[in-house]
Amino acid sequence: MKKKLSIFSLVLAFILVLSACASGSGSSSGSSASSSSGTQKKTLRVVDDATYAPFEYMDKGKIVGFDVDILNALSKETGYKVQLANVGWDPVFVELKNKTADMSISAITINSQRKQTYDFSVPYFLSTNKILVKKNSNIKSGADLKGKVIAVQTATTGQAAVEKIVGQNNPNVKKFKTINLAIMELLNGGADAVVADNTVIEEYAKNNPGQNLKVIMDKKAFAPEFYGLMYPKGSNLRSVFDKAINTLYANGTYTKIYQKWFKASPDVNELKAQQK
Ligand code: ARG
Repeated sequence: MKKKLSIFSLVLAFILVLSACASGSGSSSGSSASSSSGTQKKTLRVVDDATYAPFEYMDKGKIVGFDVDILNALSKETGYKVQLANVGWDPVFVELKNKTADMSISAITINSQRKQTYDFSVPYFLSTNKILVKKNSNIKSGADLKGKVIAVQTATTGQAAVEKIVGQNNPNVKKFKTINLAIMELLNGGADAVVADNTVIEEYAKNNPGQNLKVIMDKKAFAPEFYGLMYPKGSNLRSVFDKAINTLYANGTYTKIYQKWFKASPDVNELKAQQK
């Protein structure tokens, strides 16, 4: 009886070991398939509106700018090849909504309204809206925009900020497809002011001294904004690229690219503090 029992338990133990082996090999082959080490990562379709110097603009047929350098550094860091396409501002949003593109980098402000439809990276740039006017203008603040004609790029935070001051659907707000068309309207006398991201209009005023323009800041009227990479909702690229952005912060690559374009040093700690 005793002997019989021990043989039985031996057989039972053998079966248990066998089944453990089987399930073990099963799960290990599963995990090696999902990690797919060594396989080629797909080339990402990245879209932008390359009419927004110095972030993204066309130069001798090529898209260049601060964002483009950041994108290339991220591509190197993550191992994802990228194919950047200049599609225009509205199509950027359409493509990501329809998931015909994987990502956008286009000086896009992260805000709660956009977050309902899209995902964003951690912030990579601090911006704010400012007012571009002719030097002899009597506009000195956001409040002074009331009753004036203001040109903006359609569907930007600049448009939203102006409408907050002068009211939505106010016919005095002239909306243009690109910021350059909005600036032309100011130069031609069709508008009294342009409201847009500070870096873009400051750069324009500096590079075109003959046009007698000045830039007005109003911290009460225009809040700080942060740019992020934008993805279709639920994109699994987010964590990979967030990690890479933090690597560029840590290893000095971000600072180098920033200094190249803006001849100043970024406040990396301020950007990182936004990640909470
Ligand atoms: N930062 C502003 C926004 O998100 C304007 C960005 C416009 N970018 C561009 N590439 N045209 O609304």
